[in-house]
Amino acid sequence: MKETLRYLAGIAGPSGYGSKSTAEQVSQDCCSSVPSHLTAIITGATSGIGAETARVLAKRGVRIVIPARDLGKAAEVKDEIQRESPKAEVIILEIDLSSLASVNRFCSEFLALRLPLNILINNGGVFSQALEYSEDKIEMTFATNYLGHHFLTETLLDKMVETAAQTGIRGRIINVSSVIHSWVKRDGFCFNQLLNPKNYNGTRAYAQSKLANILHVKELARHLKARNARVSVNAVHPGIVKTGIIRAHKGFITDSVFFIASKLLKSTSQGASTTCYVALSPEVEGVSGKYFADCNESDCSNLANDESEARKLWKQTRLLIHRLLYQPTA
Ligand SMILES: NC(=O)c1ccc[n+]([C@@H]2O[C@H](COP(=O)([O-])OP(=O)(O)OC[C@H]3O[C@@H](n4cnc5c(N)ncnc54)[C@H](OP(=O)(O)O)[C@@H]3O)[C@@H](O)[C@H]2O)c1
Repeated sequence: MKETLRYLAGIAGPSGYGSKSTAEQVSQDCCSSVPSHLTAIITGATSGIGAETARVLAKRGVRIVIPARDLGKAAEVKDEIQRESPKAEVIILEIDLSSLASVNRFCSEFLALRLPLNILINNGGVFSQALEYSEDKIEMTFATNYLGHHFLTETLLDKMVETAAQTGIRGRIINVSSVIHSWVKRDGFCFNQLLNPKNYNGTRAYAQSKLANILHVKELARHLKARNARVSVNAVHPGIVKTGIIRAHKGFITDSVFFIASKLLKSTSQGASTTCYVALSPEVEGVSGKYFADCNESDCSNLANDESEARKLWKQTRLLIHRLLYQPTA
């Protein structure tokens, strides 16, 4: 109840920001402490929260790499960014997050550019109402929101660790999750069911993929710590924003719910604020394995905090990726 009132009133938390803080405000305040020449990869930056995150980080001098499946849309975002920030450097490369082969191609192209990598924002996402499969024959929501990002992060991790060691600037990985992760019950989270569900339900699949995003953060944070790497990884809930991901759910009921709930919705800039805060704020320097909402550290579900569940998901994911890459017909 206290949390809901705090959200509605936009009362600031310990960070000094709250639900009504915008990405512009948060990044402006961090501006003086943001090192120059940072490079960030932001998935899903062709629309919604990702496009706003890219615009604001570019405005603060960060070189932006946009991996996109729709290169035309990415070019429009790049034009908009450069209209506002003419000196901004924006690089577009092709990716389909639901395909491991495509993620692999993107990583090779990016690594061939020999750029540093300071920030990786795993923001892209889908909320698919109907059961669809990726080219790797994995349920589409899980393939896009979780598996593609897991593989992307794994493939770029050495570059991030190397950049941090060479520059002395701590790398930051951010998984954009959702509060909806807490809807998943322990007995509803079974790896084989996630890959190939029997009774598909779009909301359940989306919630499971967002839970997987947090479990990924928990286990990766442990690995990074054990490796003594100067790279942190955290998860964020951006808030509820009427972006493409929600507009796909057309209909009287969805529209009515959004009309009634409009007081609870954030603007896109408010939705991008937590990502920008975790990406840039000096207060978050060294914080790893945590979950943020409204620009403050927050509580995720017990299941999302379960270390053994995180370890299990990690192991199963690595085995699956290995099988898909090296024995695609098995
Ligand atoms: N909006 C909310 O209320 C809300 C709440 C909680 C969490 N989130 C999370 O916030 C993140 C951003 O969502 P959004 O609300 O900004 O939605 P959005 O406007 O629909 O943006 C989704 C982005 O993901 C990209 N994408 C989807 N599938 C892809 C694929 N296979 N390969 C490459 N890119 C792909 C889309 O590219 P295209 O332009 O090609 O479609 C788009 O750029 C998501 O992770 C979402 O789960 C959103």
